[in-house]
Amino acid sequence: MRKKIVAANWKMNLNLSEGAELINDLYNGMPELSEHRLVVVAPPFVHIGQAATQLATMDHVYLGAQNCHQEASGAYTGEVSASMLSSAEVQYVIIGHSERRQYFGEDNEMLAKKVNQVLANGMKVIFCCGESLEVRDAGTENAWVETQLREGLFHLGEEHFKNVVIAYEPIWAIGTGRTASAQQAQDMHAHIRSVLTSQFGAEVADGISILYGGSCKPSNAAELFACADVDGGLIGGASLKAEEFIGIVSAMLETEVA
Ligand code: 13P
Repeated sequence: MRKKIVAANWKMNLNLSEGAELINDLYNGMPELSEHRLVVVAPPFVHIGQAATQLATMDHVYLGAQNCHQEASGAYTGEVSASMLSSAEVQYVIIGHSERRQYFGEDNEMLAKKVNQVLANGMKVIFCCGESLEVRDAGTENAWVETQLREGLFHLGEEHFKNVVIAYEPIWAIGTGRTASAQQAQDMHAHIRSVLTSQFGAEVADGISILYGGSCKPSNAAELFACADVDGGLIGGASLKAEEFIGIVSAMLETEVA
């Protein structure tokens, strides 16, 4: 049974007291989750200690981080390692977000190293992929995403790959209010699963959660999550408001677990 996941990516938003208040509101309003229908909250690094304490009181709500460095330790001023995150109770790390790729020059080779660091430290990866509008307009989005998966993840053996969650986030839908249609999301998610099947076999591919991200809101979440290969969402803007985020979590809970 594969997991349905709704993950909050706060990006570079909220100070410590705002973050504490948001998690408190989530605590008060979160519907009942389970091992197979769970939530991840990925705040900025400075929130992690505080968020770990707060989330420890919530069942099936896991702490995430938005990035880590690709080396284990050393003279990399300003960076944070995977082992630091693991020691701070982080369980999921987002790797390869399009904003990291675009603004911080992260390429697939670097991302493959980051993936290794996260997995070597016993955490799970939320690996982001997705095409620009230019690529979609050229009709080459399937090949684009396949290359991201191959170069970022396909060096992994099956045992490690089982600890990866994929997030498909078309760049043209992020923060734009322009969501992919349910059909566009399903088509890409089915493509991703077929690529995973060719590499890892159907049993492994069927067990991997593939999340959709990009202007996901309570009003469109149910339709997206009803798609056979959409296993939840990675939420940016709407994760900053407890009511909206809980609305999206509720939409996940209403869908059948595959
Ligand atoms: P928005 O939900 O704000 O479009 O952001 C999506 C995203 O990038 C999540 O990682």
